[in-house]
Amino acid sequence: MDKLVLLGGRSLEGEVAISGSKNTALPLMSAAMLVDGVSTLYNVPRLRDIYTYSNVLRVTGAHVHYDPETRTMHIDASRVGHFEAPYELVKKMRASFYILGALLGRFGRARVSLPGGCAWGPRPVNLHLEGFRALGAEISLDRGYVVARAPASGLRGARIRFEPPSVGATVNVLLAAVLARGTTRLENAAMEPDVVCFGEALNRMGARISGLGTPVLEIEGVPELQPLLAHTPPDRIELGTYMIAAAMTRGRVRLLQAEPAHLGDFLEIFRQTGARVEVGPDWIYVEGPEVIQPVSIQTAVYPGFPTDLQAQWTAMMTQADGDSTVTDTIYFDRFKHVPELLRMGAQIEVVGNRAHIRGRTRLIGAQVMSTDLRGSVSLVLAGLVAEGRTDVLRVYHLDRGYEALEVKLSALGADIRREQYEEFGTVVLPLEEEEQM
Ligand code: EPZ
Repeated sequence: MDKLVLLGGRSLEGEVAISGSKNTALPLMSAAMLVDGVSTLYNVPRLRDIYTYSNVLRVTGAHVHYDPETRTMHIDASRVGHFEAPYELVKKMRASFYILGALLGRFGRARVSLPGGCAWGPRPVNLHLEGFRALGAEISLDRGYVVARAPASGLRGARIRFEPPSVGATVNVLLAAVLARGTTRLENAAMEPDVVCFGEALNRMGARISGLGTPVLEIEGVPELQPLLAHTPPDRIELGTYMIAAAMTRGRVRLLQAEPAHLGDFLEIFRQTGARVEVGPDWIYVEGPEVIQPVSIQTAVYPGFPTDLQAQWTAMMTQADGDSTVTDTIYFDRFKHVPELLRMGAQIEVVGNRAHIRGRTRLIGAQVMSTDLRGSVSLVLAGLVAEGRTDVLRVYHLDRGYEALEVKLSALGADIRREQYEEFGTVVLPLEEEEQM
């Protein structure tokens, strides 16, 4: 198993490029499943979740070829003939559930494992299933699998309202609705850039979606689509993560191949910390402040503060010159990283869905681990400023959503390296020092 070993105290200096967006690439890969042909996707990030989802597509009979050097992916969905996604793969990554909308939309049938929960609690899919039922599909549960079947006459347009707005349900129902007969109206639809870029790609394939980026989408079903040709937009969560890393370490960092517009309210909230920010058409320059101002935040759907950046913000607020709060209104218990930050000396109290953070606190390096992707990266951020050595264990969580994290941070001057280790219960034996047994 891999861990990241950091020595804190260095300011980040220099420039790195932001990789393609995981949460946009996954819907785009699903769109390729809607056509009898070969689709091409550029700037696909080299991430575990992308490999996992590629295998989900392969199980159905699609051919997926990914060139990790060029980050280009070709998906040939002309020979899809197996309409099932197994538990072993879906449990590894919740977004595998998108295959249900794609198979149901194109073939009228699918049998897909229900995704499990995740580190911070249940992740329901009721909105997905209610959307499919509204389109006329018969949905049943069979030993942990969702079995979906369209009527012989195919899916038909419907009026659907999401409560709360859901990124995944919006993506999944769009996948089913674009080839349905008639018009579908989605109300309270998600407006995240991931969804807008995905919908725009579907329109370039011949779909007829209007209202993208607003809460109401109208989809006029079409009989077939043309192959996808798309460039994955940059990852706004990776971008925000590196901006926070630069501010925390009082660094001077330029982030390239970025899309500042996808940050929504985060950009102005970030400026309130005192960080100096210059914004270009496809880059952002961040200069960390001498003193980080405490800025309390509350997550919200786009364009509000992204829930996927709240763990990283919490780490930064431990270094602020004053107390602050972080409230997550999307996921009420997404605070599994807090106990690990406490072990590094942070002073944080979580009450309900709100973390009360004491600033500024001295962080001391330690062995830490988190159980989810964004929680893990918040521990890396803490390790960048902590005194001494921090080992962040179970790096596979990070590898799901951050491409070459330690390579990029090293290029910015951080003292960080990847090492292998074995976990024996709670005892961690550094392999390189292990006595020959
Ligand atoms: C997407 O998850 C992202 N994942 C998540 O990022 C992100 O945290 C989340 O959106 C919120 O922005 C991908 O895009 C692959 P939701 P998703 O459906 O679609 C409730 C990361 O770190 N809900 O918008 O699963 C749900 O419980 C990941 O990259 C229902 O009640 O999120 C939550 O409270 C983590 N019923 C709220 O909606 C449903 O059927 C928003 O969830 C679906 C969702």
